[in-house]
Amino acid sequence: MTKQARNQSQTGHNMAGANQMWGGRFSAGPAEIMERINASIDFDQRLYRQDIEGSKAHAAMLAAQGVIDAEDAAEITRGLDLVLAEIEEGRFSFDRALEDIHMNVEARLRALIGDPAGRLHTGRSRNDQVATDIRLWLREMIDGLDGAMADLQRALVDQAERWADAVMPGYTHLQTAQPVTFGHHLLAYVEMIGRDRGRFADCRKRLNESPLGAAALAGTSFPIDRHATARALGFDRPTANSMDSVASRDFALEFLAAGSIAAVHLSRLAEEIVIWASDRFRFVRLSDAFSTGSSIMPQKRNPDAAELVRGKAGRVIGAFNALAIMMKGLPMTYGKDMQEDKEPLFDAVDTLSLMVQATAGMTADLKPRPDVMRAALADGFPTATDLADWLVRALGTPFRDAHHITGQVVALAEQRGVDLADLSLNDLQGVDPRITDDVFSVLSVDASVASRTSFGGTAPDNVRQAARDARTRFGLG
Ligand code: ARG
Repeated sequence: MTKQARNQSQTGHNMAGANQMWGGRFSAGPAEIMERINASIDFDQRLYRQDIEGSKAHAAMLAAQGVIDAEDAAEITRGLDLVLAEIEEGRFSFDRALEDIHMNVEARLRALIGDPAGRLHTGRSRNDQVATDIRLWLREMIDGLDGAMADLQRALVDQAERWADAVMPGYTHLQTAQPVTFGHHLLAYVEMIGRDRGRFADCRKRLNESPLGAAALAGTSFPIDRHATARALGFDRPTANSMDSVASRDFALEFLAAGSIAAVHLSRLAEEIVIWASDRFRFVRLSDAFSTGSSIMPQKRNPDAAELVRGKAGRVIGAFNALAIMMKGLPMTYGKDMQEDKEPLFDAVDTLSLMVQATAGMTADLKPRPDVMRAALADGFPTATDLADWLVRALGTPFRDAHHITGQVVALAEQRGVDLADLSLNDLQGVDPRITDDVFSVLSVDASVASRTSFGGTAPDNVRQAARDARTRFGLG
């Protein structure tokens, strides 16, 4: 069927190629390139379910308010369900000439049920419609993402409990600092992901208002009930200002900002996995399921999944940038620029979802090598702080002096090529004669971590307790 013939058959009017939805004052259709730059149907078809849900709520409200007949509303609802089924069963053909999901659905509705379809768009506009659709869609996506992030937290907590006693070097500046346990290290990410979930939840709370019925920008003269449609669609309330309703995308920006921060966290964990799995560290072994081989170097096990999580963070942060830059110069209210909100938002949601799931899978599969982690503690004098603390506690030395004395002990050990615990009491007393052999009780890495019992510290018992608390605090079951 030609475009013209289709226009004729669906509308009963011959508009000679002008758009059947808004072409009343147009005598010709758009240039081909105009159609291509203007159409969003290639990507916004993803909103079909939310679009139809919103239309059903709108039609029911119009009937309840006496704006349209109950029979027309019933026909509209029946027709919208048919359209929904066609789309879900892959029997729907999306048409670029109809620009977007809103007009594709409505045109098909008209073809299916005839005249009553023309009454659906009373008291609304595509401007409030699209804002409603995206909010509904994003709300659902946030719920899915929250579940996936809880799964990731669960994988981290499970591993943390398993490895609550496994000592490893804790780093600052990627230089050995103090011994920690692998479990404690993993629980750090449980906190980060927990805050990410909190940010998404905040975003969800703020976005859960219904723009439907704001119409083009000014509201409508029809006696619509925006509270009723808001309720029907599970929104907390209608948005308070019609211009804000159609002009604002800060709910999407807020999601992308929270998403960018989450992506940063996932990327940092991915980077650690890359480091831990490297030949220099060998702290963990990646499962076959999350690594790849090389087509030329048979010995390789590459941490591709981790690298891709790290790499994909850029896309999410890029989406925030794209949307912020697109919005920043727009005067009130809607501008077609805003159609550009969808692709970055969709991509960021898909990307985050992949990143979170891949990270959860990698985490669950991670095989730590506790012996290698422990061996790494032989370098870098990780218990130097314990020695300084002992000088303070046992001898009443001011911490600054203790720091200085410890520095001399470290220099001596370095000179001898041994660890602090391997120096003799004689060696130690050569630096400070007040030192007794009680000092050896704090120089081992196990004694060091066991002593870190302050709230939030790395002592294995703390880690086990913190893991239990995290399960409750983050509702991990
Ligand atoms: N496809 C459009 C978008 O995504 C829908 C709103 C169109 N509104 C308009 N006045 N042209 O933004």
